[in-house]
Amino acid sequence: MIDRWGRKIEYLRISVTDRCNFRCKYCMPEEGVAPLSHDDVLRFEEMLVIVKAASELGINKIRVTGGEPLVRKGITGFIKALRVIPGIEDISMTTNGSLLEKHAEKLKEAGLDRVNISLDSLDGKKFYDITRGGNLEDVLRGIDSALTAGLAPVKINCVVTKGFNEDEILDFVEITKRIPVHVRFIELMPLGEGNRSEFGFVSTAKLKRLINAELIPVEIKGNGPAKCFKIEGALGSIGFISPMSGHICSRCNRIRLTADGKLRPCLESETEYDVKGLIRSGADTQEIKSFIRRVILSKPREHRMYTTYHKHTKRNMSQIGG
Ligand code: 5AD
Ligand code: SF4
Repeated sequence: MIDRWGRKIEYLRISVTDRCNFRCKYCMPEEGVAPLSHDDVLRFEEMLVIVKAASELGINKIRVTGGEPLVRKGITGFIKALRVIPGIEDISMTTNGSLLEKHAEKLKEAGLDRVNISLDSLDGKKFYDITRGGNLEDVLRGIDSALTAGLAPVKINCVVTKGFNEDEILDFVEITKRIPVHVRFIELMPLGEGNRSEFGFVSTAKLKRLINAELIPVEIKGNGPAKCFKIEGALGSIGFISPMSGHICSRCNRIRLTADGKLRPCLESETEYDVKGLIRSGADTQEIKSFIRRVILSKPREHRMYTTYHKHTKRNMSQIGG
């Protein structure tokens, strides 16, 4: 479906849970967020009804996110059920990787195509610090398992924050020379906890200056807003996602479904539509379809984080799904 600004919307991100076994400082407060009650969370069957309706409107790509999607029971069965929906071509997952070693093989068998793994530091102590308790080794084994299982292309999401991991950028680049992983450096967005003053934002332009090497443009499957490059001879690639400096909204192709059953036309905007209420009131597929159509038509032209110091978005990323 085409939105009001001429963009083709074909991508739905589904947050299957707001819970996470990490507490990344820019994503969740230390004490966590009050978890949704069981009944507030969409059941998998309800999500599938939404995906079926969305697929009839031209959605062909699904990403499963969280919180941490692998903490939700029954996730493999959900992937299986997504896989058989006509029109759904690409199924991916964003995970913190800590539980991936256990799940990678089964997820691949269930029909998951690929994973993005969040990883902000290659130093065990710093990793523990930013995630408030995460174990780097678990994630590294998770990445290995994803590669072995063929959940490719395996991408690594690295949110860059000033004074924290700027000094590791070259280490991340180095990894892509030896291992077929695709590291994507993400500009921190001032959403929820990400708005805390202790975090400094680092621009893509600054990263490119730090990397200071010839970057050969490449296309990686499911690129989305990332601009991707490789270093001569590398097995993997590096990419830059520049939500703050890059005016990526003109290429926006997605809508989002939160774990508590709200459709969000924009990551940043507070506007959301209660599709759970609609489903639980007994709506049929036709009604759900026209509801989703209205959501797509309400997509704003761009987010508001470019300009003013932005204080609008109350939800944390863990409650939106990234
Ligand atoms: N800005 C940019 N990226 C963020 N993520 C979480 N919070 C933010 C933020 N404020 C990233 C996570 C994960 C992905 C879903 O979004 O690190 O990789
Ligand atoms: Fe969990 Fe990802 Fe948020 Fe970290 S960024 S707390 S891993 S949801």
